[in-house]
Formats: sequence, C-alpha cells, structure tokens
Amino acid sequence: MRYLVAFALFASLAAAAPKKKNWEAGGYVGTEACLACHEDMGKAFLKTRHGGIEKDTGRGWKDYSCESCHGPGLKHGEAAEAKFILNHAKAPAKEVDASCLTCHKNQATHAGRIHGSHSAGQVSCVNCHSVHHEKPKPASTCSSCHTDVVAQFLRPHAHRMTQGTVGCVDCHNPHGSLQAAGLRGTARTRNNEPGCLNCHADKRGPFAFEHAPMRLEGCGSCHEPHGSANPRMLNRAEVLNLCLECHSNLPAPSNRTGTLGSVATGAHDLRLPIYRNCTSCHTKIHGSHVNRDFLR
Ligand code: HEC
Ligand code: HEC
Ligand code: HEC
Ligand code: HEC
Ligand code: HEC
Ligand code: HEC
Ligand code: HEC
Ligand code: HEC
Ligand code: HEC
Ligand code: HEC
Repeated sequence: MRYLVAFALFASLAAAAPKKKNWEAGGYVGTEACLACHEDMGKAFLKTRHGGIEKDTGRGWKDYSCESCHGPGLKHGEAAEAKFILNHAKAPAKEVDASCLTCHKNQATHAGRIHGSHSAGQVSCVNCHSVHHEKPKPASTCSSCHTDVVAQFLRPHAHRMTQGTVGCVDCHNPHGSLQAAGLRGTARTRNNEPGCLNCHADKRGPFAFEHAPMRLEGCGSCHEPHGSANPRMLNRAEVLNLCLECHSNLPAPSNRTGTLGSVATGAHDLRLPIYRNCTSCHTKIHGSHVNRDFLR
C-alpha cells in the first residue's frame, strides 16, 4: 500500500520532470522522485559533499544527483525492485569504478587507477569509501585486507604506525600510481622522487657526491620500509654485510655480475673490529656535500 501511494506520487513527478539532457528518454526521473520512497536516506545524503551535485548548475546533474551514481531510475521506481537499479555494494568492481570515475577520472590523484593492482584485484571504490556517510571509511581499512603488511610494522625497528606517526597512505596512493607498488612521489602526483623524502628531506640532495644506489635502486636497496629486525630498518643485521654486497669482488645474490660499487682500499682490514662498522667513518652514507668517500 505504501508503495502504491509512493508510486502515484512518483509517476506524477516523473511526468513533471524538466526536459533536459533527454532525461526521460534515458529513463531518468530526478531526485525528488527517489525521495518519495527513500526519504530519510536521501535527505541525509544531500548533506554530504556529494549532495552539492544536486544544486550545482555546472555539472549537468542539477535535481538529478541520485542518478549521477545510481543510473536512470525510471524502471526501478515503477517496479520498486532492486534489480533495476545499480547498487554499488553488490555490483562487480569494474562497474562501480566506471560509475564513480565518470566524475573522478581526471583527478590527478587517480592517474594510476586503471593499471593499479587494486583495480586488477577487484577492489573497488566502495571497499574503501562510504559515500552515504560524510567521512570515508578510516584508513585502517587497509589492515582488513593487508594483515601481513601490518604485522611487519610490529617488528622491532619500524615506523611507529600504531602511534599514528606514519600511515599507509603517506607512502602509497591507494588509487594506484605510475610508480611500482603504488608508491607516491614527493609531489602528490606524477614524479619519480621517492615519497620518503616528504618526511626525510635531509636525504634529498642534490649532493655534490651522490651515493649511486640512492638514485638508482632507491631507499629500498638498503632499508625495509615496512619494518625490520635490524637497527635503522636496514636489510642486513650488520652494516658491513649490506655494504659488501655491492663493494666487493665476491658475487652475491644482488651482485651476480661481479663488482657493482668500488672495492674498499687495502687499508680496510676487515679482520680489525674498527673496520667492520663502515658507517662509523662513512657517516654521510646518503651523500655528501664535501667528501667523495662520504666521510663527512
Ligand atoms: C516507488 C518507490 C521507490 C522509488 C520511487 C525509488 N525506489 Fe529505490 N527502492 C525501493 C524499494 C522498495 C527498494 C528495496 C527493494 C528490495 O530490497 O528488494 C529500493 C531499493 C533501492 C536501492 C538498493 C538496491 C539493492 O540492490 O539493494 C537503491 C540503490 C535505490 N533503491 C535507489 C533509488 C534511486 C536512486 C531512486 C530514484 C531514481 C529510487 N531508488 C526510487 C523503492 C523505490
Ligand atoms: C556519489 C554517488 C552516489 C550518489 C550521488 C547517491 N548514491 Fe546511493 N549509493 C551509493 C553507493 C556507493 C551505495 C552502496 C552502499 C554504500 O557504499 O554506502 C549506495 C547505496 C544506496 C542505497 C542502498 C542502501 C542500502 O543500505 O542498501 C540506496 C537506497 C541509495 N543509495 C539511495 C540514494 C538516493 C536516494 C540518492 C540521492 C538522494 C543517492 N543514493 C545518491 C552511491 C551514491
Ligand atoms: C556526478 C559526479 C560525481 C560522481 C558520479 C561521483 N562523485 Fe565523488 N565527488 C564529486 C564531487 C563534486 C565531490 C566534491 C568535491 C569537492 O568538494 O571539492 C566529490 C568528492 C568525493 C570524495 C571526497 C570527499 C572528501 O571528503 O574529500 C570521495 C572520496 C568521492 N567523491 C568518492 C566517490 C565515489 C566512491 C563515487 C562512486 C560511488 C563517486 N565519488 C562518484 C562528484 C562525483
Ligand atoms: C584501497 C582503498 C581505496 C580505494 C579502492 C579507493 N580509494 Fe579513494 N581514497 C582512499 C583513501 C585512504 C583516501 C585518502 C587519501 C589521503 O589521505 O591522501 C582516498 C581519497 C579519495 C578522494 C579525495 C581526493 C584524493 O584523490 O585524494 C577521492 C575523490 C577518492 N578517494 C575517490 C575514489 C574513487 C572514485 C575510487 C574508485 C575509482 C576510489 N577512491 C578508490 C582509499 C581508497
Ligand atoms: C578489500 C581488500 C583491500 C583493501 C581494503 C585494501 N587493499 Fe590493497 N590490495 C588488495 C588486493 C587484492 C591487492 C592486489 C594483490 C596482489 O596483486 O597481490 C592489493 C594491492 C595493494 C598494493 C600493491 C600495489 C602494487 O602495485 O604492487 C598496495 C601498495 C596496497 N594494496 C595498498 C593498500 C592501501 C594503502 C590500502 C588502504 C588505503 C589498501 N591497500 C586497502 C586488497 C585490498
Ligand atoms: C609521513 C612521514 C614519513 C615518511 C613518508 C617516511 N618516513 Fe621514515 N620516519 C618518519 C619518522 C617520524 C621517523 C622516526 C620514527 C617514528 O617516529 O616512526 C622515521 C624513521 C625512519 C628511519 C629510522 C628508523 C630507526 O630505527 O632509526 C628510517 C631508516 C626511515 N624512516 C626510512 C624511511 C623510508 C625508506 C621511507 C620511504 C619508503 C620513509 N622513511 C618514509 C617519517 C616518515
Ligand atoms: C614508509 C613508507 C611505507 C609505508 C608507511 C607503507 N609502505 Fe607499503 N611499501 C613501501 C615501499 C617502499 C614498497 C616497495 C617495497 C619493495 O619494492 O621492496 C611497499 C610495498 C607494499 C606492497 C607490495 C609488496 C608487498 O610487500 O606485499 C603492499 C601490498 C604494501 N606496501 C602495502 C602497505 C600497507 C597496507 C601499508 C599500511 C599498513 C603500507 N604498505 C605502509 C613503503 C611503505
Ligand atoms: C646505500 C644504502 C642506503 C640507501 C640507498 C639509503 N640508506 Fe638510509 N641508511 C643507510 C645506513 C647504513 C644507515 C645507518 C647509518 C648509521 O647507522 O649511522 C641509514 C640510516 C637512515 C636513517 C636514520 C638515520 C638518519 O640518518 O637519519 C634514515 C631516516 C634513512 N636512512 C632514510 C633513508 C631514505 C629516505 C633513503 C632513500 C631516499 C635512504 N635512507 C637510502 C643506508 C642507506
Ligand atoms: C646497492 C649497492 C650498494 C650498496 C648496498 C652500497 N653501495 Fe656504496 N656505492 C655503490 C655504487 C654503485 C657506488 C659508485 C661506485 C663508482 O662510482 O664506481 C658507490 C660508491 C660508494 C663510495 C664512494 C667511493 C667511490 O668509489 O665512488 C663509498 C665510500 C661507498 N659507496 C661506501 C658504501 C658503504 C660504507 C656502504 C654500506 C653502508 C655502501 N657503500 C653500500 C653501491 C652500493
Ligand atoms: C676507520 C674508518 C673507516 C672505516 C670503518 C671504513 N672505511 Fe672505507 N674508507 C675510509 C677512508 C679514510 C677512505 C678513503 C680512501 C682511503 O684512504 O683508503 C675509504 C674509502 C672507501 C671506499 C672507496 C674506495 C675508492 O676506491 O675510492 C669504499 C668503497 C669504502 N671505503 C668502503 C668501506 C666499507 C664497505 C667499509 C666497511 C666494511 C668501510 N669502508 C669502513 C675509512 C674507513
């Protein structure tokens, strides 16, 4: 009975809808018609940021905001059946993305979306965003799927994520990026400088004497970004072993073709404890403004 009344109202509103953008032909009915049956939910929604679409004359969806996401609602309104309307919570990821991206695809922070692994992995916008609520789902959303990564942050040496100093999206763009592993650059979009430099600006340079792997392999050649058992989040327990993977004649896993870096001079007697802590002398290991051997 409730629906009958609503339908009568709905039908009259649909008939009265203004002729623009060929709405009727496409089966669009306008927001007022939706509110006849979805009053509470619709009213709440109009107070969110997307609600602004309803009154915005510039976007082409004035008075039709519900259907900007849900698609044309004529058939659904007539039948009051779920199967005639797009519900993002049930639709395949591709369809959801397509719906949201009609407006968001030209946003610079979404440049990597199409090729990103969330897209490829069927993780859609609504896995992370809840548009009928003012705030997006909290970033702790990441941990619901990436439990293994969260566990890595519990290692002895890691960014203190649990205290909130650093979060996943400080380093990753959840929408994908043009860098490997969805990493952010220093600008919010498009550049190749590691996003680490947003916070560790002292490692940026340009240095008069650069340490080659800083630029070529990046921070990850020496550090484990998600946390490590080793001090300073280094890849190796002893600094010595880290350096010698590149600075020796010995073939090592990362050094299959022989020497990568230069070989330390004969004065370096590795049997002497003093020489085993390389960074006690090579203190400016990320690059130096004055010394080609990074001694100061
Ligand atoms: C005549 C009443 C009526 C009108 C008008 C109406 N709806 Fe609905 N709508 C319903 C009913 C009833 C359901 C629940 C159907 C079910 O659960 O089977 C529903 C469900 C939905 C759902 C969820 C579908 C799902 O898969 O769970 C969405 C989204 C929706 N409506 C959007 C809209 C939009 C947008 C409009 C305006 C274009 C609109 N509705 C107009 C009655 C209406
Ligand atoms: C910005 C896109 C967008 C707009 C605009 C929008 N919706 Fe939705 N709606 C969604 C998404 C996404 C869902 C899936 C559930 C969720 O993520 O909250 C949804 C779910 C729904 C549902 C199903 C709710 C449920 O609990 O099953 C209804 C009903 C609905 N919307 C009605 C409306 C009405 C009415 C309007 C206009 C006042 C509207 N929507 C405008 C994106 C939108
Ligand atoms: C009709 C165009 C349109 C569609 C379709 C659309 N959006 Fe939006 N979206 C907007 C506008 C406009 C804003 C507000 C931008 C602003 O306030 O600067 C916005 C803002 C957002 C924001 C940012 C909110 C904030 O607090 O910063 C998120 C997240 C978002 N949209 C997600 C989605 C998702 C998910 C979908 C698909 C379910 C979607 N949008 C579909 C136009 C759209
Ligand atoms: C894996 C989770 C995830 C997915 C999937 C996702 N988002 Fe987001 N989105 C976020 C997070 C987290 C933020 C906040 C980013 C920040 O603080 O820098 C955000 C921010 C946004 C914003 C605000 C402006 C910006 O770009 O930073 C918009 C708009 C937005 N998302 C739209 C979308 C749309 C549209 C989709 C689907 C095509 C989508 N998002 C998919 C997690 C996600
Ligand atoms: C609904 C589950 C889900 C949620 C929520 C989620 N992810 Fe993912 N994520 C995935 C899947 C699935 C993949 C693809 C896995 C694969 O390819 O092995 C992935 C891949 C990734 C990758 C790898 C990117 C690459 O190109 O290698 C990163 C980085 C990532 N997610 C970060 C995040 C961040 C940050 C958040 C929170 C804002 C988040 N994820 C939330 C499921 C999720
Ligand atoms: C959002 C800011 C931020 C970003 C981005 C960031 N860091 Fe950090 N980093 C910190 C802070 C703050 C500390 C101090 C420890 C703490 O409070 O978590 C730190 C500490 C460190 C340490 C020293 C740990 C120790 O045990 O002394 C290393 C190494 C490090 N970061 C490497 C990186 C690398 C590599 C990246 C990029 C993959 C990166 N950081 C990105 C903020 C950041
Ligand atoms: C300090 C910066 C930083 C933070 C914070 C960070 N990541 Fe990463 N993440 C990276 C870097 C750098 C890589 C690439 C590592 C590589 O290539 O060896 C990566 C790789 C990944 C990958 C793909 C490879 C893998 O290890 O599975 C996923 C998925 C991922 N991160 C998810 C997350 C999630 C989820 C969070 C939050 C819980 C997070 N990351 C927090 C820097 C970070
Ligand atoms: C060639 C190996 C190597 C590379 C590449 C590298 N680091 Fe380091 N990093 C180290 C070593 C070794 C230490 C420990 C120095 C010590 O114990 O005195 C360190 C220490 C740090 C520390 C903590 C102490 C300090 O100096 O602040 C931070 C933060 C850091 N690195 C960030 C980065 C960032 C960000 C990048 C990429 C831009 C990077 N590192 C690239 C080897 C490297
Ligand atoms: C990923 C490989 C890699 C790692 C790890 C690495 N280096 Fe290097 N290092 C290089 C390369 C390549 C050069 C440039 C060599 C050249 O120009 O012939 C270089 C240059 C140097 C130089 C300048 C001398 C010269 O010949 O230009 C010193 C000193 C040095 N590294 C010390 C260290 C120390 C100490 C560590 C450990 C904390 C370390 N490196 C870790 C690859 C590495
Ligand atoms: C006691 C201080 C000290 C320690 C510890 C030390 N070095 Fe050096 N290193 C130097 C000095 C000084 C030079 C400058 C060249 C010289 O006079 O031997 C140098 C030069 C180098 C060079 C450049 C060689 C060239 O051809 O220019 C490399 C590579 C190097 N060291 C690697 C290492 C590695 C790897 C370790 C750790 C196993 C290490 N150093 C530990 C003092 C030290």
